[in-house]
Amino acid sequence: MTEGPLWSGRFSTPPAPEAEALGRSLDVDRTLAAEDVRAGTAHVEALLAAGLLTDDEAAKLVEALARVGDAMLAGTFAFDAADEDIHSAVERGVTDLLGDVGAKLHAGRSRNDLVATDVRLRLIELVGTAAAEVHNVARALVGRARDHVTDPMPGSTHVRPAQPITVGHHLCAHAWALARDLDRLADWRRRANVSPLGAGALATSTLGLDPIATAERLGFDRAFANSLDAVSDRDALQEAVAAASICATHLSRLAADLLRWTDPALGWAELDEAYSTGSSMMPQKRNPDTAELARGKAARIAGDFVTLSAMLQGLPLGYQRDLQEDKEPAFDALETLEVVARALAGAIVTLRIDSDAMRAACADPGLYATDVAEALVTSGVPFREAHRRTGELLKTLADDGRTLADLDDDDWNEFGVPDGAALLDPDRSIAARTAPGGPSRRSVEAQLAALDALLVP
Ligand code: ARG
Repeated sequence: MTEGPLWSGRFSTPPAPEAEALGRSLDVDRTLAAEDVRAGTAHVEALLAAGLLTDDEAAKLVEALARVGDAMLAGTFAFDAADEDIHSAVERGVTDLLGDVGAKLHAGRSRNDLVATDVRLRLIELVGTAAAEVHNVARALVGRARDHVTDPMPGSTHVRPAQPITVGHHLCAHAWALARDLDRLADWRRRANVSPLGAGALATSTLGLDPIATAERLGFDRAFANSLDAVSDRDALQEAVAAASICATHLSRLAADLLRWTDPALGWAELDEAYSTGSSMMPQKRNPDTAELARGKAARIAGDFVTLSAMLQGLPLGYQRDLQEDKEPAFDALETLEVVARALAGAIVTLRIDSDAMRAACADPGLYATDVAEALVTSGVPFREAHRRTGELLKTLADDGRTLADLDDDDWNEFGVPDGAALLDPDRSIAARTAPGGPSRRSVEAQLAALDALLVP
């Protein structure tokens, strides 16, 4: 049995209970048991390769690490009050099982390189899981867009009717944002996939351990280039949370559109019951909580980024205990993103889109005012004048309680746009927007093909 904390040799007084309470990170890093055992096992192999353990000792250590890990995962491990963090608890568990052999485990390593290693292993997994859910949302959007390639809807600016687009074009716009997020997360992995193990407290060790072999054992792409950087660097956390926060922003904007579309006042879509909730008081209510929470959780993930960045800024290099505060926001951001994306994917797959209602909303003649101005431009009128003339026409009509739809052929001829009446048509307006990337059928089909290629299952 170890007495007191791992480091108690130099001390004559045990830590004050309140200092110990402040320092304990076990509740947060308890979830790193599997990673700590994996890192510990790789370290045992490094000690063996350096001739610091016999085969028998190494086998005993590996087995004891596995037993401790299994007990922790099963919830049967007896944590005790002196277990400051998961690293201390695992080492104490191994030492309790093996005595002197267990006491050899920590040679040449520090909790500084260990915690950095554990967190990276965990983060690679969490980012992978969150990205898989975001991928599902993007695929769900592409699937729904494919059903509505040519269905018109009023596109808006300032949440007011602007110009006709298609439902397919709108849904693809959200999918493109998520495709960029997935690219960012994949790119993150290339930089994050570095093993800190072997860096020790800050300066490696005198024991001849090989960090490159350790990195390979743990499945990392490479080992640290600088041991001081290895124990100080929290870029991988900050960058993963930044990418998660950008992605959560996209999901919240998608949720905002879902909330608008499903507003009964608009009636363009309806969330499935499975993604709605009732009211405890008002029997008639069907509330869009899934979308509202997807919108709201983005604030929490942005907060995680701020927590992490505020904690890191100004820290000198080397391990500082402040760094212990890194795990909660990092894990929370990725776990929250995963939960949000999973629910949103289901809400999108089951969303009932009322394309007739969206088409009916395209009867608003104002949506075609830009088409009218552009028709003048095609006949040689400078745009600024075309804009003014069209605006004046709209004002005169509005003063009479009329709209562009009330103009007859003579009115249009006089205005200088002989085919004016034909312009007030969503299908024509959309088809006329032939630019790549626009809402035309051809462009949306090209977008769908490109998204399919990016979002291979
Ligand atoms: N529990 C610490 C953390 O999560 C790791 C331990 C390093 N502690 C230390 N005193 N050097 O960051």
